[in-house]
Amino acid sequence: MQAKALKLRETSSFVVEWLKAPLVTASVIPSSQRLAKKMVVGLDASVEQVIELGPGTGVFTNAILAAGVSEAALVLVELNAKFATQLQHKYPQATVINGSAESLAHFGLGKADRVISGLPLLSIRDVDVDAILGAAFSVMKPGAALVQFTYGYKCPVKPALMLKHGLMARRENFVLNNFPPAYVYHIYKR
Ligand SMILES: C[S@@+](CC[C@H](N)C(=O)[O-])C[C@H]1O[C@@H](n2cnc3c(N)ncnc32)[C@H](O)[C@@H]1O
Repeated sequence: MQAKALKLRETSSFVVEWLKAPLVTASVIPSSQRLAKKMVVGLDASVEQVIELGPGTGVFTNAILAAGVSEAALVLVELNAKFATQLQHKYPQATVINGSAESLAHFGLGKADRVISGLPLLSIRDVDVDAILGAAFSVMKPGAALVQFTYGYKCPVKPALMLKHGLMARRENFVLNNFPPAYVYHIYKR
């Protein structure tokens, strides 16, 4: 009952934030738990640091923790101040940064085993996606993956940016049980 009430509160909070800034929040409701599970495949208790970009109300964050990653190993970077405050309250041992993914390289973080992105890349300007990719790969261990979901079939990073950053993408999963259905990509340095 309590879990249902919390989910309802988080969904309404998401709708309110979407109404305030539709292009930044970019989805009317949070992602499904089915998608969240696919976003964290391969994570376990051995990872030292996971950075999550655009956690919103924490659907992927819960799945990262359920995969065995410790809360203290989590860095959550969220642009929306209200979501950031809620996240810090919900995950007191995580490092919550109310800032932009574009600035990731300036937060003095160690190297991450993985970056999980809930960012709406398709509604972010190319120049900012360029900055996000540069920043994300500068704070990742060699060979680490940036995990990104998208509502389109294609990888949401444009080919020119893939080339510029020396990246390759692998489509890992399709999740029908999400609104809208979503694909999960793993993006690596070549
Ligand atoms: C589509 S929602 C995804 C939320 C959550 N991960 C989920 O799947 O339900 C996008 C989230 O990214 C955040 N966001 C958008 N642009 C951002 C940026 N440049 N840096 C950090 N967070 C950003 C929004 O505030 C929002 O919480």
